Amino acid sequence: MKPGKHANGKQKFLSDVVSISDFSRPDIELVLKEAERMEKLSREKKAQILKNIVVALLFFEPSTRTRLSFETAIQNLGGRVIGFADASVSSTKKGETLSDTIRIVESYADIIVMRHYIEGAARRAAEISKKPVINAGDGANQHPTQTLLDLYTIKKEFGKIDGLKIAMAGDLKYGRTVHSLLYALSKFNNVEVFLIAPESLRMPRHIIEDVKGKVKVFETQEMEKYLDRIDILYSTRIQKERFPDEIEYEKVKNVYVITKKMLEKAKKGMKVMHALPRVNEITTEVDETPNALYFQQAANGLPTREALLALLMGVKK
Ligand code: CP
Repeated sequence: MKPGKHANGKQKFLSDVVSISDFSRPDIELVLKEAERMEKLSREKKAQILKNIVVALLFFEPSTRTRLSFETAIQNLGGRVIGFADASVSSTKKGETLSDTIRIVESYADIIVMRHYIEGAARRAAEISKKPVINAGDGANQHPTQTLLDLYTIKKEFGKIDGLKIAMAGDLKYGRTVHSLLYALSKFNNVEVFLIAPESLRMPRHIIEDVKGKVKVFETQEMEKYLDRIDILYSTRIQKERFPDEIEYEKVKNVYVITKKMLEKAKKGMKVMHALPRVNEITTEVDETPNALYFQQAANGLPTREALLALLMGVKK
C-alpha cells in the first residue's frame, strides 16, 4: 500500500494497515514511538485526537482483545464507535457482499477496522474504501496490529529487537500472528527465528521464501532443546476453527504445552509471549513466573492501537 499524505502536511504514513509487509522499518518504528507517546499523554490531550471522528469496527469473526482494545482506544482518543461484533446481526446474513458493506460503511465512518475470516478480505476492503482500513485479522493470513503490539512489547522488555533469538511454537500454518511477526522480524538486523511445529503445521513455504536472506530461520519439531538459547518463546494456539478435518486437529491439539518445570531450562530472562486466547499451550502456573509476558503483551494492544489510529487520522488516500 502506498503511503498516504497526512492532512497536517507534516507526516507521511501508510494509507491502510493491511499487511505488515507494507511497512518499512521506519514505519514500524514510527508506530512504536507513537505508542510510547500515547502512554505518557494526559487523558485530556488524548481525548482531542479523534474528536468528531467515527471509527467502524466490523468483526466478522470472534474477538476479545482486538475489538475491545480498539474500542477503548477510540474512546480514549475522543472518537465515536459504530459497527458490529457479530456479522450474524448485520446484513451479511441476508447475503450482502463485502464490497457493498464497505461502500456503505465508508460513507458513515472515517476509519474502518475489520476482522474477516477470508484471507485477502482486508486488501479488498482497502481497495474499495476511500477511508483508511485496518486489518484486525484476515483468516489465516495476517494480523498486523497484533505484530505491532508484539514488537512494542519486545522493545519495551528488551530495549531492542535487533539481534534477538525468537522461537515461534505451535500452529505456524494457520496462525496469522506468526506469519505477520516473521515478516516484521525480517526487517530487523541479525534476528534468529526458530520455527517449532509438527510437520502438518509448519510455516507456509511461500513465507519462508519471502523472508529468505533477510532473517535466519531454523525449522525444528523440538521445543525443550532450544530453551537455553532463545530470548523469547512465542507460543501459539492451535487454530481449531481453520482445520478442514477435526481428526487432524485432535492429533496435534496438545503438541507443545509450556509448563513451569520446563522453564527451569530456559535462558535467564527468557520471556514467554502469546497473542491469546490460550487453550492448553501454557499452564496457568506459568502466569506467576517472571517469564510470563503475555498479559502485559495484551495490555500493550491499547497504546499501540491508539498510536495507529492517531497516525491514520487525516490520512488521505
Ligand atoms: N490476540 C487476538 O487477536 O485476540 P482476540 O482474538 O481476542 O482479538
